[in-house]
Parts: sequence; C-alpha cells; structure tokens
Amino acid sequence: MAEQYPDLCYFRLGNQDLYFVNHPDLIKEVLVNQQPNFLKSRILQRSKILLGEGLLTSEGEHHLRQRRLVQPAFHRDRLTGYGASMSQLATRTACSWTQGETRDMHQEMARMTLAIVARTLFSADVDADADAIGESMAAVLGLFQLALLPFSDLLVKLPLPATKRFQKAKSQLDGIIYRLIEERRASGLDTGDLLSMLILAQDEEAGTGGMTDKQVRDEALTLFLAGHETTANALTWAWYLLSQNPTAEAAFHDEIDSVLGAREPQFDDLPQLRYTRGVFAESMRLFPPAWAIGRMTTREISLGGYRVPKNNIVLMSPYITHRDPRYWPEPLEFRPQRFVADKEAERNKFVYYPFGGGSRICIGERFAWMEGVLALAAIGRRWRLQLVPGQTIEPLAQITLRPKSGMKMRIESRVP
Ligand code: HEM
Repeated sequence: MAEQYPDLCYFRLGNQDLYFVNHPDLIKEVLVNQQPNFLKSRILQRSKILLGEGLLTSEGEHHLRQRRLVQPAFHRDRLTGYGASMSQLATRTACSWTQGETRDMHQEMARMTLAIVARTLFSADVDADADAIGESMAAVLGLFQLALLPFSDLLVKLPLPATKRFQKAKSQLDGIIYRLIEERRASGLDTGDLLSMLILAQDEEAGTGGMTDKQVRDEALTLFLAGHETTANALTWAWYLLSQNPTAEAAFHDEIDSVLGAREPQFDDLPQLRYTRGVFAESMRLFPPAWAIGRMTTREISLGGYRVPKNNIVLMSPYITHRDPRYWPEPLEFRPQRFVADKEAERNKFVYYPFGGGSRICIGERFAWMEGVLALAAIGRRWRLQLVPGQTIEPLAQITLRPKSGMKMRIESRVP
C-alpha cells in the first residue's frame, strides 16, 4: 500500500480504522507536533498486566514525572559504568564459543542482552539474583504473548494452566525485585546500577519526592523488558547482514583490529568504532527491531489534509520508511558507509527512527548504541560468523522483528 500511496493511506483491520503514515513530516506531526492528541496504541496498554504503570505504558502527567525521575539513570557518567559490564558480558559470550561449532545466534544474543540488562539494572555484585531474575523473566516473557491477545484482561483471570504459570512466574519475579528494592533502600548505598538510580531519584521540579516501591518495580521491569529483546534482535540481524556482505564484513574486521589490537573494547573506544556503529545503524535500518509504532487519537485531528476521527489508530513503520527509495538510494543494499559519511545532520530525522521520536522516544537509545557497538566489537574481534546454508531467513513481525526460525551460524576463529 505504501508503494501505491507513499505518504498516507487508510485501511480497515477487523472493525478497526487504521491510518498508515509514511511521510517523514507526517510522522513528525504524530510523534512530536500533535503528540498530546494521541495515546499509545492498545497493544502497549495491554502490557500493563505485566508492566503496571512504567514508562512504556503510562500516559500524560504520570508519564512526564516518571520520565524525569528515570532519565538520570541514563546520563553519560552512568553509561560509562554500564559500558564496562557490556564489554565484559559480550566477551564472556564470545569466550563460551568454540571454533567450528554451530550456534543459534538469536538465542545467543538474547541470552547475552538479558545478562547485560540484569547486571546493569540490578548490579554486578548480585550475580546469583541476576541469573534468577533472568530465568523468571524468560518464563514470564514466554507467557506474556498471552497477555497481548484480545480479551486478555478477561483471559488472565481465568484459571487456565497458561495463566496460572504466568501469574506464578510474575509473582516470583516480583518477589525478587521487591526484596532487592527493600535491601537497597535499607543499605542506603548507591551501587551505580539502574536500581540505585531509580530508588535515589527525587522529583525536585514537582516537589513530589521519590518513587514508591511499586513505581520502582514497574520501572525496573519495564526497562528489563524493553531493554533486551530489541537489542538482541538488532544484533542478530547485524550478524546475518555481515555474513551476507563480505566487503562490509572485511571493513568491520579491519576497523576492530586497528582500533583494538589485542584488547577488549571499552567505553573510550566508541568514538573510534565508527564503521562498527555504521554496521549497527544500517542493520536497524533494514530490520528495525521496533518495526511498527502505533498511536490512538484522543480527539478528531487533521493529518496531511485528512480528517482522522477520535479513537482511530495511526500506524507508522520504521521498516517501511527505512526502505523507501525516495530517501534511501538502493534501499535493499547493506551499506554501513551510509552512516559513516556523516550524512546524519542533513537527513530528515524521521526517515530513520528506529528509536521513535518526540516525548516518547526510547529512553535507552544511548544505552542501546553503546551495547550494540561494544558487543559487535567484542565478538567480531574473535569470531567470524557464517550463516549455515539451507535455512530460510525470514523476519517475523511480532511486537519486535525477530528471525522467524532462529539464525544458525557457524563460528570461525579470526585469531590464529
Ligand atoms: C536496539 C534497541 C532498541 C530499540 C530499537 C528500541 C526502540 C524503542 C522505540 C521505537 C520506542 C518508542 C515506542 C513508541 O513510541 O511507541 C522505545 C521506547 C522505550 N524504550 Fe527502547 N529500544 C531499544 C533499546 C532499549 C533499551 C536498551 C532500553 C532500556 C534499558 C529501552 C527502554 C525503553 C523505554 C523505557 C521506552 C519507553 C519510553 C517512554 O515512553 O518514555 N529501550 N524503544
């Protein structure tokens, strides 16, 4: 449809009216200029079953206040500390592989990013808990799809085996998180992780003090959920695209070798790892993990000269816009160089928006860039990953864009 009506089109899905917006100026209208006329779409609203009133799901004044409180956890001086954990855990992943073996790269990346977010959220010195949290989180996530189905509000109240498992895993997870919050509050220590930051945060602007335990729990879980699956998908697609593009792969390896030599990557290397950043950026152009962004109108609005009534859905897709030949020459080619050539300042911000935009832009964007680049460098320094032949690689568009049947790759040593 976007080929036929490239800027804006209308369609019906079931009994729902949908407006698909693909022109960068109109995307900006929705995400920035007219943002107060929208709420998040229903899928995210339904996630409240697990996430409560965290940043991803809350709206209006409450969202603004929470955003002010959580933001300091992503300041530059905090990120430096997270960088060390990222590099260490990516190195641990790389060191667990052996020459010539085959691994499902999607699973490997998911395990690694889960460990990274557990460590940066809940601290390096609670490794045992970080593992337990990771396991309960995986169990909750496995069943979370259920909560996203239509009528899920009713469904999760029924005593079905799946809902019982979901509730059990959720209360286990809550148990661990509330205990960690209690211990951290009692100690009064700032251990440098996200949890400390959430507990210490005070809303000076509104003069309303800090967060309750329930709010800290909702935010911690939201960051946990929003922070790992997306990055794992971006990295998986990056390995796939590198394996299919030997010239880009060679340039990537050259950069890592010349910047790092025999060292592990660290925070200070980031400005030099420009091509590696381009690899991550170009992968998210072709396979943006958040492939669709939805909003619901709270009143009748005018968009691109059309009238959109109240309670209608406006949908945007970075996947479609990022492949639009009007903005991207040879859009299906994998060319990390597009992002190295410093064209970003000239480019309209909303032709490339893997992290959304406006007041609801991803709070973890800088965290994700850092994690993506450090992980690519730590792994690419040691290994070359080759796609095992005979697989059909297809994206599966769920809440995030993941490879439909995993991604089997053969691990080849780059180090003699
Ligand atoms: C490659 C990785 C990532 C991608 C592609 C991504 C993408 C996005 C997008 C598109 C949104 C906006 C959704 C909307 O407007 O409806 C978003 C929001 C959000 N993301 Fe990310 N994200 C990534 C990593 C992370 C990380 C690492 C964290 C935390 C550690 C995180 C936490 C959040 C939160 C809390 C929100 C809600 C922000 C708000 O509404 O105030 N994300 N993300």
